Amino acid sequence: MNQSVVSEFVFLGLTNSWNIQLFLFVFSSIFYVASMMGNSLIVFTVVSDSHLHSPMYFLLANLSFIDLGISSVTSPKMICDLFRKHKVISFRGCVTQIFFIHVIGGVEMVLLIAMAFDRYVAICKPLHYLTIMSPRVCILFSVASWVVGFMHSLVQLAFVVNLPFCGPNVLDSFYCDFPRFIKLACTDTYKLELLVSINSGFMSVGSFFILIISYIVIIFTVQKHSSSGSSKALSTLSAHVTVVVLFFGPVMFFYTWPSSYTHLDKFLAIFDAIVTPFLNPVIYTLRNQEMKIAMMRVFSKLMGCRQIFKHLNFEQT
Ligand SMILES: *[C@@H]1O[C@H](CO)[C@@H](O)[C@H](O)[C@H]1NC(C)=O
Repeated sequence: MNQSVVSEFVFLGLTNSWNIQLFLFVFSSIFYVASMMGNSLIVFTVVSDSHLHSPMYFLLANLSFIDLGISSVTSPKMICDLFRKHKVISFRGCVTQIFFIHVIGGVEMVLLIAMAFDRYVAICKPLHYLTIMSPRVCILFSVASWVVGFMHSLVQLAFVVNLPFCGPNVLDSFYCDFPRFIKLACTDTYKLELLVSINSGFMSVGSFFILIISYIVIIFTVQKHSSSGSSKALSTLSAHVTVVVLFFGPVMFFYTWPSSYTHLDKFLAIFDAIVTPFLNPVIYTLRNQEMKIAMMRVFSKLMGCRQIFKHLNFEQT
């Protein structure tokens, strides 16, 4: 980093229109607060309610935990910057954002694959579910997700950290990420851009296809044994598929289409930074009776309403 002359970067932001800025401010603030509260509530509920101590809910709590990170890497700065004329970020700040975006992205990908695997075992091999998805395997998945996330991010940063930056320092975006960041280095960056496209691009496209194929296998299995549980399984699966498409759609676009300098990618980035972490809790809880009951149980315990608590316990058994 010593060779760099550039010590800070300037964001152009999303738009200059005051009306759109106001709209984005209100919209992003509401979604940010809602997703922080929703995801914290899920983590708290799963950890504190022993009825939810099963692999599926542990993985869901891990996903919510990482969603807290997704919301916090880029959006608070984006919201604070909206009405600023001069939106700057230090060189370190910029590299830090890139680092955490990729750690969190890697963790999220592995967790989504683990959740698909969990549903595959539950639906296709129900008799072996408890032996395959043992507590050890769950912990292994959650450790693996962090290891993959850190490796994925470090490998890319290792190549970028020594790039010379001698200006210009203007990023047409509201956060730092590879394609635009690398373009600013004053050296031939063709190979680096390729490296990032291969690493991030293949990783996102690869996980997307693994997930879609595993869901197709599960759906075929569910349809073969058309039982009463199949509609419940399909509703769980459709929730998972929705989350996967919402998360991977924009990500695949960023890294496999880096030369597209349309404004579309900026608005897709808002979607991934603000809307996706909010939708996960909505999608997983609103359609999940067990989760809703557990949340009410946690609430009533906190409030000390023993009446409701008793009633809910009765309903469960
Ligand atoms: C993540 O998953 C592990 C393994 O099941 C679990 O022990 C841990 O409590 C989970 N973390 C959160 C934040 O829910």
